[in-house]
Amino acid sequence: MAAVFYIFTISLLFSSISGELHNDFPAEVDAKMLGSLKEKLTHFRVYWHDILSGKKPTSVRIVKPPSNVPASSGFGMISMIDNPLTIGPDLNSTMVGRAQGFYALASQEELGLLMTMNFVFIEGKYNGSTITVMGRNAVFNKVREMPVIGGSGLFRFARGYVQARTQMFDLKTGDATVEYNVYVLHY
Ligand SMILES: *[C@@H]1O[C@H](CO)[C@@H](O)[C@H](O)[C@H]1NC(C)=O
Ligand SMILES: *[C@@H]1O[C@H](CO)[C@@H](O)[C@H](O)[C@H]1NC(C)=O
Repeated sequence: MAAVFYIFTISLLFSSISGELHNDFPAEVDAKMLGSLKEKLTHFRVYWHDILSGKKPTSVRIVKPPSNVPASSGFGMISMIDNPLTIGPDLNSTMVGRAQGFYALASQEELGLLMTMNFVFIEGKYNGSTITVMGRNAVFNKVREMPVIGGSGLFRFARGYVQARTQMFDLKTGDATVEYNVYVLHY
């Protein structure tokens, strides 16, 4: 850890910075530090599998609305997810990451979810990098757009949006497959 910090400090010194982290906290750092890194726009498509059924569900209801909430609306329900993200619509296709977080029924009038999740990638150079998606998901709309509000690793300073389209929804089990097109600006 100390070594990592040392290397970080040295690399900052060599890139002629205006702030050094000695006694003062915080210190201003020249944004040129990012200058050699070009901002990129990356588009990728993954399939998000919400699995409620079977022996190993990836989506579990953790909060049930109180009994005075009309059951038809479901308002207040919260599910925790650790959903596989695959390269194709088939659950058996290559898994490139997982969507970890929760979604909540945040609308009293329609099926409008609040989605809060990290896409954690496990594939190739993206392994370990994450993006954070947070937004409104009116699940019966054909296309739902949600903001990408941040990221880590290769997705530092990420911002962008996702577009979600339901591919499959099993009325009996509640299982769903949703196509996510992600457009993200990052360094
Ligand atoms: C996925 O793989 C499992 C186990 O190999 C198999 O039982 C299942 O039928 C496959 N599903 C599809 C949609 O191919
Ligand atoms: C991803 O990173 C983890 C932890 O560093 C490592 O165990 C794993 O083998 C890596 N996977 C790939 C596909 O590189």
